[in-house]
Amino acid sequence: MYVCLCKGVTDNQIKDAINQGACSMRDLRADLDVATQCGKCARDCKSLLLENMTGNQVAAMASAQYVAA
Ligand code: FES
Repeated sequence: MYVCLCKGVTDNQIKDAINQGACSMRDLRADLDVATQCGKCARDCKSLLLENMTGNQVAAMASAQYVAA
């Protein structure tokens, strides 16, 4: 299913990027160019991130946010 219509990116492409290490919207933007045009897909991309990240990716994201705060 297409998630980002502007860039023609599917949920499977996003899941593949997450499986290959993407753990933030910044990573997904860099890897797939999602949410860089109209931005309507950002919420769905974030949902896919949260649903598909591994425990290690969640821990890395949490520690990065802790350091940034
Ligand atoms: Fe993704 Fe427009 S739908 S940037």
